[in-house]
Amino acid sequence: MERPLTTQSNPLAQAALKKRAQFVPSSVAAYSGVVVDRAENSTLWDVDGKKYIDFAGGIGALNVGHCHPKVVSALQKQAGKFTHTSFHVASYPDYASVCEKLIQTIPTSHPQKAALFNSGAEAVENAVKLARFFTRRSAVISFGYAFHGRTLLCLTLDGREKVLKSGFGPFAPEIYRAPFPYPYRAPLGITPDELTEYCLEELKRLWRSEISPEQTAALIVEPVQGEGGFIVPSSGFLKGLRELCDAHGTILIIDEVQSGFGRTGKFWAFEHEGAVKAQGRSSASRFRKSVSDEGILPDLLVAGKSLAAGMPLSAVIGRAEIMDAAPSGAIGGTYGGNPLSCVAALAVFEIFEKEDLLKKANLIAKTVKARFDAFQKKFSVVGESRGLGAMRALELVSNPKTKTPLSPDQVKKIIAECEKKGLLILKAGIFDNVLRTLMPLTIEEKTLAEGLDILESVLEGFSS
Ligand SMILES: Cc1ncc(COP(=O)(O)O)c(C=O)c1O
Repeated sequence: MERPLTTQSNPLAQAALKKRAQFVPSSVAAYSGVVVDRAENSTLWDVDGKKYIDFAGGIGALNVGHCHPKVVSALQKQAGKFTHTSFHVASYPDYASVCEKLIQTIPTSHPQKAALFNSGAEAVENAVKLARFFTRRSAVISFGYAFHGRTLLCLTLDGREKVLKSGFGPFAPEIYRAPFPYPYRAPLGITPDELTEYCLEELKRLWRSEISPEQTAALIVEPVQGEGGFIVPSSGFLKGLRELCDAHGTILIIDEVQSGFGRTGKFWAFEHEGAVKAQGRSSASRFRKSVSDEGILPDLLVAGKSLAAGMPLSAVIGRAEIMDAAPSGAIGGTYGGNPLSCVAALAVFEIFEKEDLLKKANLIAKTVKARFDAFQKKFSVVGESRGLGAMRALELVSNPKTKTPLSPDQVKKIIAECEKKGLLILKAGIFDNVLRTLMPLTIEEKTLAEGLDILESVLEGFSS
């Protein structure tokens, strides 16, 4: 069970944590002992006035930073008008405007539609429902180490046993799992170059041994795994999935809840999948335009987290014929596309355009990559520095030759030491041994350097 780690003299935080321990179940994780009072851009101040550099960004939900003035002003204005009607009861234009903005980010001329929900998990659930309804098939394939959320269907999709799944069965039926290419930990005898082919072959084997492609409604994949440990799949993997989906009329759901909104230096991480030619696909394919000359496209894309600057909002964006297939009332909910969340999302889109956050993401990526690569050379505790754009990570090991994961206790100590020195950073990975960066893309250069200096000084103490 995660327990708040408090290491400094902080009476107000201590009192708040004591109250938390009394009234909040310990199954609600506490990744740090920070009790926040206020926040601005990439800095938090706790209730005792201590300052923290934020490399966690509310678990990747704050790519535009804390309390961006445009977000704050939009929220204040909307709060004085109306806070809720339920979009189903009395609609408002901002909901459709958010959908329009989301659709404009998908590089295709094929008609798209979007629907709004509250959390990433809820959007994933709805993407699966839509795929099943459209195809009239029931099976869904997810991938090893995947994370799609904590609802029953999502945790069935998740590829992580400990903490998430253990003890929570029985799980939802008709979910199957195929291996995800994890280049740093490729199966014995498989070189990183062979990994894409190996994983695609394993998927085809699953289609022979467990479930036929004709019964498979959807594949759901993270283009860069988030909670799994910022695993960037080996090259060509996503394109391979796209082609297999095309060949079998299976819906490709791309989950960009963590990797989206500029985190990887492009608006969506799937856009990194390189230029491919639309050729050699089955004439029976229902998705003839899904592999464009520019790269791959999802049939359904799931977004959340940074969509609304920390306000609860998620979305499914996808091919209009899939989105429109289910009857009225089949998807949605009381709060989905809440008006406050919608105005925050519209402010986020404006900030992306006006402040060129994609450019900023690439600058952050360059700085963090250079520092992390240097940490890998310098510190034995760093097994691998990896990532895509500003979605960067360090996989920590007790021995770089054997790649033995650093123990969760040691990783916890590193995170607690960072916290003591004023840096908030999160772990990830199936071994809980990956440090990941989800700082706001608006972070000031100086603050970024300061945070990286803290991390370096802590890692120094944990390396032989
Ligand atoms: C890729 C991915 N999908 C889905 C989710 C679930 O989102 P939420 O916690 O908003 O339900 C997450 C959360 O971390 C995620 O990283």
